[in-house]
Amino acid sequence: MKFPKKLQGANSLLAKSLTKAIFEELKEKKTTNNFTLKKVIKSGVKNIDSSIGAYAGDKETYTVFAALFDKIIAEYHNFKKEDLHQSNLNPEDLFAPNLDIEGKYIISTRIRVARNIKDVSLGTAILKKQRNEIENRVSTILKSLKGELAGKYYALKGMRKEEKESLISNHFLFKSDDRFLEAAGLHRDWPNGRGIFHNNDKTFLVWINEEDHLRIISMQQGGNIKEVFVRLVHAIEKIQQKIDFAYDKHLGYIATCPTNLGTAMRASVHIKLPKLGENKKTFKVIADKYKIQIRGIDGEHSKSKENIYDISNKQRLGVSEVACVQDMYYGVVALIKKEKELENNTKLTSK
Ligand code: ADP
Ligand code: ARG
Repeated sequence: MKFPKKLQGANSLLAKSLTKAIFEELKEKKTTNNFTLKKVIKSGVKNIDSSIGAYAGDKETYTVFAALFDKIIAEYHNFKKEDLHQSNLNPEDLFAPNLDIEGKYIISTRIRVARNIKDVSLGTAILKKQRNEIENRVSTILKSLKGELAGKYYALKGMRKEEKESLISNHFLFKSDDRFLEAAGLHRDWPNGRGIFHNNDKTFLVWINEEDHLRIISMQQGGNIKEVFVRLVHAIEKIQQKIDFAYDKHLGYIATCPTNLGTAMRASVHIKLPKLGENKKTFKVIADKYKIQIRGIDGEHSKSKENIYDISNKQRLGVSEVACVQDMYYGVVALIKKEKELENNTKLTSK
């Protein structure tokens, strides 16, 4: 394998981290499951506009290819090799009174965590049979949940086109056309083994075999962040009673993408910010200051519509779950404050 020239000049963390020396050190290495450097970097080489560009095939990938991943992890999560991950899922430690009771800005709130089953290859390297086994095992466990979490499993295979499109456009289901995941090998045997479980109100959902074996999601309309967090913690506890997930005291929960290590948590709001939308520089300065990420309305790599943005915590490793939500919360407080200031300035100048 030759050094991928295409990476030269690219802006991804892969391109910045994979020096020629590291490439030489890693090019012949593989994990017990045969995950190679070529597979690790395939998505980032094919998609030169990647922001990260590297994926793992199993937990071992993070140690065998540590010379590359440690650099990406340090840059993305501000987390060093010697640091230990920390967890705190106690809702009592979360300070998040509803900051938009009138519902003028915040449209909906969603918090998700990624989970992968211990000692099973990640989706990038999994075999069809193993993927189907996960689907059967996890959907059976989910179907046994009671109370608010009780619901049904919908396999992607055989799902009607209209039903699928409606679930996607209402932000409940993952898309089928992510070229970054595709190049990472995550779309092999599509749509086999994939699906979504949700309760009646669609406030508790689990994606099976998308980017990670499980994505556990709590979401609802409005800005009651605490309620969403409490439901998620309850769901995680119930599922973890039945499944052992891949975990490491340094890296936390193991995820396919290094951005999702640690808590594997992304806490977000969909929020309407027309004034900040016109002042992109100010928007970005606040986002960087509060370590929050701006996405479009249809998730990652999508555009904003009607001035609605997806605002979420960026760091997931080396911070607790409570701290992830808290990062998003304080970021949103700052954004709403600025949006109001810009509204008032417009009112004054138009008088
Ligand atoms: P993930 O959150 O799993 O990393 P995406 O960014 O692709 O992946 O988002 C998945 C879906 O969740 C998208 O349809 C997105 O619009 C939706 N979503 C994310 N945050 C919210 C939110 N606060 N309210 C409603 N839908 C949301
Ligand atoms: N591989 C994509 C990129 O580098 C996505 C990275 C983060 N998102 C994710 N869903 N893992 O741009």
